Amino acid sequence: MPTRPYVIDEMISAKTIAARVEELAREITAHFQDTNKLVVVGLLRGSFVFIADLVRELDLPVEVDFMEASSYGDATHSSREVRILKDLRGEIAGRDVLVVEDIVDTGHTLKHVLTLLKARKPARIEVCALLDKPTRREVAIKATWTGFEIPDRFVVGYGIDFAQRNRNLPHIGAVRFTDGDDQ
Ligand code: PRP
Repeated sequence: MPTRPYVIDEMISAKTIAARVEELAREITAHFQDTNKLVVVGLLRGSFVFIADLVRELDLPVEVDFMEASSYGDATHSSREVRILKDLRGEIAGRDVLVVEDIVDTGHTLKHVLTLLKARKPARIEVCALLDKPTRREVAIKATWTGFEIPDRFVVGYGIDFAQRNRNLPHIGAVRFTDGDDQ
């Protein structure tokens, strides 16, 4: 599908992201220091770059698993239907779990995923989100660790897409449309 013309303004550099990922990993390592084996759950697709960098900075025994959720918005409603397109391969009952998200926006995806995973009775479950747009929140939910709080801009890069493009940018950029209309 053709998109409107746009340019990408750098918002968070690759170097700044790398430094923050190191800090987050230190805090997560300290938090789960006594874990037997941490299950790190990446929410596809947007988290694939972040989880790859984050797990390599964790000084813990880890297992990596993935889930894919898809959310269907309804402009007139704050409730959204979240569907699980891919479930975990492994069991998490009695395990320590870290859910890794690229961005928390309305919060519906994370809320749905956490409700589902908590029902499986993990020993501990925490969330690390790279980005948070608190002004967009529709349900009360917050990640345990957040990389960066950002304003309500359309962002791409470091795993995050615009119409499936730009996931491979090494930094986080803000989309700016160049056809004269506001976003
Ligand atoms: C994005 C993002 C989060 C979710 C956040 O996923 O990766 O999972 O939306 O939005 P919410 O807080 O409003 O629920 P998207 O559905 O774009 O899929 P993707 O990760 O495959 O790009």
